[in-house]
Amino acid sequence: MTGARTLDRSRLARLMAAEMAAFEQANPRSKALFERAKGSLLDGVPMNWMVKWAGPFPLFVESASGAHFTDVDGHEYVDFCLGDTGAMAGHGAEATIRAVERQMRRGITHMLPTEDAIVSGDELRRRFGLRYWQFTITATDANRFAIRLAREVTGRPKILVHNHNYHGSVDETFAVIGPDGAVVKRRGNIGAPVEPTLTTRVVEINDLEALGRELAHGDVSAVLMEPALTNVGIVLPDPGYHEGVRELTRRHGTLLINDETHTICAGPGGYTGAHGLSPDMLTIGKTIGGGIPAGAYGFTEELAERFRASVPWDDCDAGGIGGTLAGNALSLAAIRATLTEVLTDEAFARMIPLGARWAAGVDGVLRADDVPWHVTQLGARAEYHFMPDRPRNGAEQWAHGDAELERFLHLWAMNRGVLMTPFHNMALMSPATTEADVDLHTEVFGEAVEALFGD
Ligand SMILES: Cc1ncc(COP(=O)(O)O)c(C=O)c1O
Repeated sequence: MTGARTLDRSRLARLMAAEMAAFEQANPRSKALFERAKGSLLDGVPMNWMVKWAGPFPLFVESASGAHFTDVDGHEYVDFCLGDTGAMAGHGAEATIRAVERQMRRGITHMLPTEDAIVSGDELRRRFGLRYWQFTITATDANRFAIRLAREVTGRPKILVHNHNYHGSVDETFAVIGPDGAVVKRRGNIGAPVEPTLTTRVVEINDLEALGRELAHGDVSAVLMEPALTNVGIVLPDPGYHEGVRELTRRHGTLLINDETHTICAGPGGYTGAHGLSPDMLTIGKTIGGGIPAGAYGFTEELAERFRASVPWDDCDAGGIGGTLAGNALSLAAIRATLTEVLTDEAFARMIPLGARWAAGVDGVLRADDVPWHVTQLGARAEYHFMPDRPRNGAEQWAHGDAELERFLHLWAMNRGVLMTPFHNMALMSPATTEADVDLHTEVFGEAVEALFGD
């Protein structure tokens, strides 16, 4: 390949039109189901995010197993999206299915504990080091409850988040740094209940000076952060960043909450375990139930004492924390099996090298073709960025987003049997993913790059 490494937009548009036509032609059954779905589902999808897939309509799934799924038109795919982490344990992991089937016949939910809750709590404690655990249905709920508890015990009204974070549909987190440096609603914040300036302070990841300045106001109950950003694109922390965060949060009496919902990809104990971090609280969801809805939050012994002292537990059934289905027997059976038999230490020892192989494959294509893009690995997850070096913060990554290019690359991959996460360019490895799966992505990605930039 010689010559142009800059993107030719008209060439991209031509390639995109051809891929759209190929997708429509190859997927008549998905298309027919999509048309039918419009009869009762808004925009033909059961959940609004599903309009974000790269094609003119989403693929309808026939079945999924391990790291693969088959659509209703009979095409098989390698799944690197894995339900955006919900299926990181692989689709239908045997041990989870066994435990869930057994529990379904013994009571799905009774608002009473089962022994699985103890084993799950013990295992989360072993992995993340936090003393006490409570369970939820989703990671969103875990974050909501953690924030409420933090506000309650500190008596402070605000939280602080990273710019371009995502922590689920948590009102306080839908804030970004605006063009003049002030906190503003993030784009697309639907029906915001209050102005985010009332609830939220925002700083860039890797900006300790800004963090110190914002915490010095004395009104921040907790910093809620992913230890590495994953939802705008992977942005890694600088060396020393987490030590600085911990020191500043302690100095200002602010609690530190690590959201490990995605960064669990860094190892069995997530980024927190892999790097010896010591947050006051930790939240997680998605994958821990192997696909069965489940979330959890953990906290230190010291914080447990503060909760007991300030939370009126007599009124806890209507106190804004918990829920009748939270901690249900089915979720707990799924968590126990998934953590102790599927997403094990040994599984991570296989998955992380696959993340490295995926990143090396993409990097090899970029180097060989002199394309000025960058690839980042975070354990079992990897991602390419449309920029020559790694992003240092959320704004930098956001500024290099390219929806048109991203859509094309995802559609190209889908038309060749590879599913990427529909947001930015992220791929996730499961215990069932193989080297051959990874190499298929490298091949397909190489062809896409050649089509875009080749002679
Ligand atoms: C870091 C992080 N936390 C929390 C959530 C919320 O997860 P859920 O939508 O399953 O509640 C997400 C979802 O993408 C996430 O990425």
